[in-house]
Amino acid sequence: MATGEAHRIVDVENVKQYTFSTEPVPRLSCSDPEAEKRIANDQPVVLTDTNLVTSALHWNEAFLRTHIGDGKFTVFTSDSHKFLYYDDKKLKFVPNFKPPTRHLEMTFDQFIDKIEDKNNSKWYYLQQGLNDTVGTQIVFDFMGFNWSWITEQQKKNGWGTLTSNLLFLGMDGVITPCHYDEQQNFFAQIKGYKRFLLFDQDMFECLYPYPVFHPHDRQSQVDFDNPDFEKFPKFRNLKGLETVLGPGDVLFLPTYWWHQVESLPGLGNTLSVNFWYKAGPVEKIVYPLTSQQKVSMMRNIEKMITDALNNTAEVAPFFQNLVVGRYT
Ligand code: FUM
Ligand code: FE
Repeated sequence: MATGEAHRIVDVENVKQYTFSTEPVPRLSCSDPEAEKRIANDQPVVLTDTNLVTSALHWNEAFLRTHIGDGKFTVFTSDSHKFLYYDDKKLKFVPNFKPPTRHLEMTFDQFIDKIEDKNNSKWYYLQQGLNDTVGTQIVFDFMGFNWSWITEQQKKNGWGTLTSNLLFLGMDGVITPCHYDEQQNFFAQIKGYKRFLLFDQDMFECLYPYPVFHPHDRQSQVDFDNPDFEKFPKFRNLKGLETVLGPGDVLFLPTYWWHQVESLPGLGNTLSVNFWYKAGPVEKIVYPLTSQQKVSMMRNIEKMITDALNNTAEVAPFFQNLVVGRYT
C-alpha cells in the first residue's frame, strides 16, 4: 500500500487499519517558513532535511555492537509486540496491577543475542539514554549531530533544557501504544521505518487516559486493536494525523500530543534517537487558555485532589460528586 501522498512513499504490506481516520502530517523542509510556524504553534511537522542525525545514519546493530561500549542498557521485554509503558513508582497505588512488560538491564551484546535468537518467542525493545559510557566513535558521531539547528529551535521557541537523548532499538513490528509525554520532542529516525499516529489535546476525552495515580498514567485505556465502544464511546469520535518516518526524517512532536508509534512490520528493526526538551515557562497568560495548558491544569488538579484525599479509592467518587448532576 502507499502510505499517503504527503508521506514518504514506502511499499508496506499489513499496515494496520484502525477505526478512526487520519490526515497526513505535513512533510516540509526545515527552511520552509510554514515549518517554523508549525513548531512555534506546537503543531507536529516532519522535517526532511535538518541533517540532525546525518552523522549517525551509518549506525546499525553491528556498528553499535562494536562501538557502544560494555555498559548496561535499559531493555524492555514483552510477551507481545506491544510495549505499554508503566511507572514503577506508582505500582503501590494499584495492588493487583500486572506489569505488561518487564524492565531488564543488559549489555548491548546480550540484547543483540536476544533479538537474534530465533528460539526466543519474547519481544525486546532497547530504550536507553545516550550517556558517557559509549565508545569514542559514538561520541564523535553524537558531536556531529546538527546541534546548531536544534539549539536555535530551542532558543527561538523559548524551551527549557535538553533533558535526554533516548536511543530506541526496536525489533521489527514493535508498538509503543498511545500515550502523551510532558516534554517537547524532536524525534529523529536513523534506520527502518516508524509509523506515528498523532492526536491533539482536544482528543483527550476520546482517548480515556488512566488516572494520574495509576502506573499507566499518560497512557490511553483504549485497546486500538479491539476498542470497547461501550466503555469508551467517544473513541468513535477520534480523528488524528499520521506519518511514516524513514532514515534522516525528524518529527516535531509537541508536548501533550498523543502518539502511538509502530515499527512497520516486515521492514526490519528500527533505530531512532529523540531530543527531549523541557517546555518553556509561560511568560504571559493569554485567554482563552490553550488545550495544552488545560491538560496541564487537569493533571495538576487531579494530583492535588489525589494527594489531599490520601486514598486512591476516594478519587473517583470525589470527582463524580463534584461533577455529576451539576456539570453534566
Ligand atoms: O517506540 C517509540 O519510538 C516511542 C517513542 C515515544 O513514545 O516518544
Ligand atoms: Fe512518547
